[in-house]
Amino acid sequence: MDYVDATNTAIRGAAPAISHLLSALGRRVAFPPDIPFQAAEARGKEFNATIGQITDGAGRALPGESLAAGLAGLSDEQRNRALLYSPVQGLPDLRESWREWQRRGLAAAGREALPSTLPIVTVGLTHGLSIVADLFTGPKRTVAVPSPFWGNYRQTFGVRRGAPVVTAPSYVDGAFNPGALAQALVNLPEGEPAVAILNLPSNPGGYSPTEAERSQIVDSLVREADRRPLLVICDDAYAGLVYAPGIPSASMFWDLNSKHERLIPVKVDGGTKEFSFFGGRVGFLTFGCEPDGELAQALENKVKGLVRSTVGSPVSTSQILLQSVLESGRAEEEFERVRQRLAERYEILKTSLEEIDSPHLRALPFNSGCFSLLEMSSKVGATAGEVRRLLLDESETGIVSIEPSFLRIAFCSVAKTALPEVVRRIADGVETLARR
Ligand SMILES: Cc1ncc(COP(=O)(O)O)c(C=O)c1O
Repeated sequence: MDYVDATNTAIRGAAPAISHLLSALGRRVAFPPDIPFQAAEARGKEFNATIGQITDGAGRALPGESLAAGLAGLSDEQRNRALLYSPVQGLPDLRESWREWQRRGLAAAGREALPSTLPIVTVGLTHGLSIVADLFTGPKRTVAVPSPFWGNYRQTFGVRRGAPVVTAPSYVDGAFNPGALAQALVNLPEGEPAVAILNLPSNPGGYSPTEAERSQIVDSLVREADRRPLLVICDDAYAGLVYAPGIPSASMFWDLNSKHERLIPVKVDGGTKEFSFFGGRVGFLTFGCEPDGELAQALENKVKGLVRSTVGSPVSTSQILLQSVLESGRAEEEFERVRQRLAERYEILKTSLEEIDSPHLRALPFNSGCFSLLEMSSKVGATAGEVRRLLLDESETGIVSIEPSFLRIAFCSVAKTALPEVVRRIADGVETLARR
């Protein structure tokens, strides 16, 4: 049996639903027994002449002085690791630390038994999503996502993989719709595997569900898994950034974990937003199964096959920097400081939005993340894009338009004192167009 067959056999034996969900590429790929594989086996041997990595002959990098000076704040050992190749699956200590970070709060909630693999390092969350898309989607695999959604899903799943993307509204009559994913899949024949994207806190909505809404989401997805193998991608880009009291902040990956043998949650998260490390490009991909089992190993094998064949291996330098935060003992405190700062902006923005006095514009509920979403009435007689253009041309204000009728404010990148004025300009712009 070759290495691909062996990996597929392991997955089929441990989780038939995952085997059923794999795309044609997902079935073909596995981590090849070539250079990184052989180099990993040689690690720690007296002589390691496996990999094309320039060293002093004893495993130490040979940087130029300028590069070494740029990394001067790191210890000698960390600097060396930052300069050399990362393992394809990521640095082992960072993977352990991130797993602990993901699982913080589980023990206090009595949920420490929920399984999760050692996260695999990706080059930002976008890369993690595209790996999941490669493994599990293609022209015959429907992907459900509530609308409006982060536009890049269209590229990752629709354009690159040719997957049909089906949607249902995230909001109905101005209220969050917890049944959106199941509704999006309602016409898909029973038995046909599907993929669903659950992005909470959401982009563009800035919404996280209440406890009751979470239960409704879980129930609807469990019912869907009675009908078909269902892979649920938990895009946790904004994990933990929740501001309104009483709104749970734990990832729904844990709520969906171990609920149904055909409900397969996959967690995509990373340092991008959680540690404001946008340029670092450190993301993680985590499956909801035991970390040491054959299934975890086989899935990791598949992911490594894709990482190896696309980006080679993830960036060591930014992994070392993220690891330095996680092992500093100050990660929670530093995260909390940013969360508090965003919470202040959230409060001010919420008040400003409540004060909008326009028959043409309503603020949709938001409580978390980086954004708030406004919905224009069709009576404005203009598109969201036209409002955006007007604000740029006449009000020195940039926002994102999502057709046909949504306007997104990224309050994560506006000073709190400026937010009331931003809201005023948006409302004025909409009224101006409504009068024209
Ligand atoms: C919902 C969502 N997922 C994924 C990403 C991508 O994150 P990264 O920059 O780490 O690729 C973003 C970035 O804006 C996002 O909003």
